[in-house]
Amino acid sequence: MLYSNNKLLIDKIAVDKIVKKFGTPTYCYSYNQLKENILKFQKNFKKVDPLICFAVKANNNTIILKEIAKLGLGADVVSKGELMSALKSKIDPKKIVFSGVGKTYQEIEFAVKKKVLLINAESQSEIETILKIAKKINKVIDIGIRLNPNVDAKTIKEITTGKTINKFGLTEKEIIELINHYKKSKYLNIKCLSVHIGSQITSHIPYLKMLKAIQKIIDKAKFNFKYIDLGGGMGINYGENNQKLNYKKYSNQIDKFVKKNKVKIIFEPGRSIIGNTGYLLTKIIYIKKTNRINFIIVDAGMNDFMRPALYKAFHRIIPSIKNRKKVSKRHEFVGPICETTDKFLSIKSYQKLNEGDNIVICDVGAYGKVLSSNYNLRTSPKEILIKKSRVFGIRKKETLQNII
Ligand SMILES: Cc1ncc(COP(=O)(O)O)c(C=O)c1O
Repeated sequence: MLYSNNKLLIDKIAVDKIVKKFGTPTYCYSYNQLKENILKFQKNFKKVDPLICFAVKANNNTIILKEIAKLGLGADVVSKGELMSALKSKIDPKKIVFSGVGKTYQEIEFAVKKKVLLINAESQSEIETILKIAKKINKVIDIGIRLNPNVDAKTIKEITTGKTINKFGLTEKEIIELINHYKKSKYLNIKCLSVHIGSQITSHIPYLKMLKAIQKIIDKAKFNFKYIDLGGGMGINYGENNQKLNYKKYSNQIDKFVKKNKVKIIFEPGRSIIGNTGYLLTKIIYIKKTNRINFIIVDAGMNDFMRPALYKAFHRIIPSIKNRKKVSKRHEFVGPICETTDKFLSIKSYQKLNEGDNIVICDVGAYGKVLSSNYNLRTSPKEILIKKSRVFGIRKKETLQNII
């Protein structure tokens, strides 16, 4: 994305031109960026040769999932709905893992019927449910067990998942007991140890601690897992600080781990694949000036894009037309929703803006559209994809008739 003659372009197409055709608010994705991210991820872990299962929770658009499938990835799903959208997008079931702390009997039965690679269980009660299904259909079911390694991922606390105060996974002691209890089962085949310690992780240190915790279990339980599923969580650069995950150090450590334990690695990345591919195009409805703050009221709200309101996530906001007139006054970019948290960004100064201008909220490809809602009875936005210099509609805007 760059400016040419002060006009903002996404994959060489002017944002204002896209807005003219598709309106606002609209989620716009770049296929080029998606492909680049996948190739980069594969390159970063080339030695490890992992199975990469895209975390569908980050973005479940079926056209995007189809592109991801064509680029060779599998999927990590956490509900029957996500599994259905992955299958509809032609993702090979043998590349699908089913995660999540509260899968129902019906969801697990559906996943087993569809022959997914693994059901990654997170409690003994869930394992018992899987066992019931296996007995009913008289078949062996391949499972993983999720470890909670009690490692602080050093990320936003709301997206931390690997501490014992979090609801996810099981402790080392519980896992060793469960392995001993179920390893001779006629119906369950424990194939995988899975883990996921959080999202937007920008240091390799927590990952190294996580690997150590896994190694400890393998050594103590003296059990051979076929797969080790290391989850996702790789952070991206939102432009707030420049701390970057050291892929080389993480990958080298995994490489050693694989050589020692002879296992196949699975990853479940979401954000690192799709985060920076997405832009939320929005229009300034009103500018409301107070003594201290210029409120820039845009036509996207927290119902369209939730991350800043949900956990104060930082996202850059850039204008579709750049000018050199700086206004040295606090600007707050807010939506029309009747909540004070409906705020995207507060910034000390900004270029001069006018009502009717288009602006772009950056890096919204992950946990953007998927978290949108109909709050204030607003329809959730449409999605478009730029591929090979053409813009495609890939999900229609809801209509009020559909949701009322
Ligand atoms: C089990 C699991 N796997 C993978 C992911 C994807 O994480 P990320 O988008 O940070 O890569 C998540 C998200 O939190 C998750 O809960």
